[in-house]
Amino acid sequence: MDIETLIKERRSVSLFEDKPVSTELVKEMLKTSAWVPNHKMTQPWRFTIITGETKDQLANLAGDFMSRGKTGEDKDRAFNKAYGTFSQVPVYVMVYMDESHELKRRQEDYASTSLIIHNLSLIGWEKGLGMIWKTGPLTDTEAFRELIEIKPGEKFVGMIQLGYAKKVPRAMPRIDLDTRITELN
Ligand SMILES: Cc1cc2nc3c(=O)[nH]c(=O)nc-3n(C[C@H](O)[C@H](O)[C@H](O)COP(=O)(O)O)c2cc1C
Repeated sequence: MDIETLIKERRSVSLFEDKPVSTELVKEMLKTSAWVPNHKMTQPWRFTIITGETKDQLANLAGDFMSRGKTGEDKDRAFNKAYGTFSQVPVYVMVYMDESHELKRRQEDYASTSLIIHNLSLIGWEKGLGMIWKTGPLTDTEAFRELIEIKPGEKFVGMIQLGYAKKVPRAMPRIDLDTRITELN
């Protein structure tokens, strides 16, 4: 696939085939993805690949989180829905970075770490793998941060859900970029 098509056709995917993704493949893709520009070469990123029992614990956390404050059948329904949504994801990649005390460094480090995530999604897309970058409210909870073993001094960057795409959503409309481009001669 040529790179222009790859960039335009990649979509965020959150529904996956019941087909395993090898963690070796994910590691290989991450290693390639990490070839990003990075000011001062701080390389602040770290990743955790989650499958198996830990994935089940994550799905349970999501179930607890989405059913909080509910009772009876409503609670069970909310729990099962969130549990199902989380457990159908074949692989999770948690992304963290060292959080510099210096604002500019932090922003630039976040920029570089974000590039890795996008590289990962493009490399994956070419292999038929879909993914979505998530930062929803569950990821702000103490239970989530404990489960993914975030370390003191680290910033959580994203929860990547990854697998062979079952359903590819339609592209969200983009603004006409001509309206955002200025030429200064
Ligand atoms: C920093 C960041 C955080 C995101 N967090 C979420 C999220 O929590 N939930 C979600 O459904 N999508 C999330 N997304 C995915 C966007 O919703 C998605 O990229 C956007 O709708 C455009 O769709 P596309 O990626 O298919 O072009 C996030 C994307 C980024 C870059």
